[in-house]
Amino acid sequence: MANQEQALAERLQTLRREIHFHNYRYHVLDAPVISDYEFDRLLAELRQIEAEYPEWVTPDSPTQRVGSQPAERFVKVRHPAPILSLANAFGVQDVRLWYERVVKVDDRVANTDYVVEPKIDGLSVVLHYRTGQFVQGATRGDGEVGEDVTTNLRTVRSLPLRLPVDPHGPQPPPYLVVRGEVFINIQDFDDLNRRLEEAGEKTYLNPRNTAAGSLRQLDPGLTASRPLNLLVYSIITGEGDLPVTQTGTLELLRSLGFPVTRHYSHHVTLDQVMEVCQSWDARRSELPFEADGVVIKINDLRLAADLGFVGKDPRGAIAFKFPAQEVTTRLINIGVNVGRTGVLTPYAMLDPVDIGGVIVKQATLHNFDYIAEKDIRLGDLVRVKRAGEVIPYIIGPVEELRSGDEKPFLPPQTCPTCGEPVENLSGEVAWYCVNAACPAQLIRNLEHFVSRGAMDIVGLGIKIVEQLVANGLVHDVADLYTLKKDALLQLEGFAEKKADNLLQSIEISRSQPLPRLITALGIRGVGEVVAADLSRYFTDLGLLSHASQEDLQTIEGIGPNIAQAIVDWFARPANRLVLEKLYKAGVWPKVAVSPQPAAGTQSLLGLTFVVTGALPTLSREGVKEFIQEHGGKVTDSVSKKTSYLVVGEAPGSKLEKARQLGIHFLDEAGLRRLAGER
Ligand code: IVH
Repeated sequence: MANQEQALAERLQTLRREIHFHNYRYHVLDAPVISDYEFDRLLAELRQIEAEYPEWVTPDSPTQRVGSQPAERFVKVRHPAPILSLANAFGVQDVRLWYERVVKVDDRVANTDYVVEPKIDGLSVVLHYRTGQFVQGATRGDGEVGEDVTTNLRTVRSLPLRLPVDPHGPQPPPYLVVRGEVFINIQDFDDLNRRLEEAGEKTYLNPRNTAAGSLRQLDPGLTASRPLNLLVYSIITGEGDLPVTQTGTLELLRSLGFPVTRHYSHHVTLDQVMEVCQSWDARRSELPFEADGVVIKINDLRLAADLGFVGKDPRGAIAFKFPAQEVTTRLINIGVNVGRTGVLTPYAMLDPVDIGGVIVKQATLHNFDYIAEKDIRLGDLVRVKRAGEVIPYIIGPVEELRSGDEKPFLPPQTCPTCGEPVENLSGEVAWYCVNAACPAQLIRNLEHFVSRGAMDIVGLGIKIVEQLVANGLVHDVADLYTLKKDALLQLEGFAEKKADNLLQSIEISRSQPLPRLITALGIRGVGEVVAADLSRYFTDLGLLSHASQEDLQTIEGIGPNIAQAIVDWFARPANRLVLEKLYKAGVWPKVAVSPQPAAGTQSLLGLTFVVTGALPTLSREGVKEFIQEHGGKVTDSVSKKTSYLVVGEAPGSKLEKARQLGIHFLDEAGLRRLAGER
């Protein structure tokens, strides 16, 4: 191997090690030590080396988490040992009965200790490692034979592809098979559903079904797009010295780099165990995932194994189940909400009912298809579930208890707020109110515009938003900036001071930076992160409004759907009017001092550029000439005086420097636009 090649091969190894480590810090320990940006750069560098030397790509490379072809079907795999189930205890008295049974089988149980772990409501998986490499992963299946879902499991970020993750950690046994649970955190699930709802797509019922469905996707690309998580809790088999206790197992797994719950506890008496079970029941909402109970395990694994099984349930462990957070109540009516994007969402109005100490009066019904699929009728008795922080939802009707008076529900043909006809876009399950002037949409839009992550207009809550709309003072978000004190004083509850305060808050919001204004516009799929990415490329809304779908897709993190949504948003006449009004009102933040792009040769006058990386069409000399022809200056190094860094493929260290100095980035398309090319 030539010297240079040797150096690259070494760099590749270092990069992989570092990326695995940072991935672990982020996804397992939740304690990253570098920024996302720096992480992305490491990954980009690795990708570049692998693109140059495809023969160096190995399955455990961090670039290989996604990217495999969809499979036709899953291959069956026989587990190396039976993947057992658990008997249930439905209260502490059942725990005591379990103890009394097992102590009779083996009196050593009288002196044993226990581990209590959350019982994660997910999907059991079996993971095989050879010489530290993740080589196979399977679902539990029937406990004897499961399905090979290796490629899908690779997309789970917290799953270590190579052990030990920390190079200073202990060496793994040469062969190791572990068991864990794949699941989705409640927060991630809610975010996923919110995004789907905004995009007019079907929302998911609960985290467990979503995790199970995602893991059994034939297309790993789809699995990768779901926020799957993993926690590992036992060793099925392995070579070499294996721990003889459950606490030892959890510690070893953790030190190898597996994600292990930090919510387990170790107890020396059964009374302690029962106490902790009861306290978990009350504290279950502290867990970031859905748990349907806790698992009590005899800590001495050899004793547990000696106790044997009853059917598929080992005697050495038992599941203490939390009471189901599921009740039956009457569906009184179905209401329909209109969202910010005009999407209509049905919700259930219920006979109020106590679920796990919380009175539930409403529940989500997802979409109109869901009501039809489940044949949910007005007046039905319905099963309602509320688990953790998940929004209560209707599982389905209790058809056996129908009186015959129940009425089928028909989706509205007109918007419940403005009365205009509703539309169903092809390929989407959602119905939309497409009336841009619909007050319900306007209210949601305004609510979003003034919210904390957006323009942050303090003191402008939902009540005032509703008042402004109802009294015709505001017809779009831009009208906020031309509100007059006299008009405000006409509103109920408004006196001098309140009006002054509100106007002052609105005034302050004018100086919000560009990413916040982009977020505030409420474009589908454009949250704070995407808005920040966009403002790295486009200096103001004018430039962004002219971006083509192709331009947008060149930005990392922006896929075809978001790019399309952005282009569509700016194409709508009502939105163009809002932009014009914002511009006229002076609400037009710019990222760097720059002239408005104007056609003509001197459009870059007064601006200084630095170029890094290879541009798609312009050569190094070509870009220099282009900038100079348009009146701009090109220098070699980034400084505070640099107006823009023009970034191409494989940028160098200038990018980092520019980022530190807060210098604005442009790609070639952005540069051309700035120069006035259309
Ligand atoms: S131990 C012999 N520990 O619960 C050991 N299971 O109802 C059997 N589960 O199929 C499993 N969290 O999928 C164990 N901390 C945990 C668990 C757990 C969730 C699941 C597992 C199992 C089911 C049994």
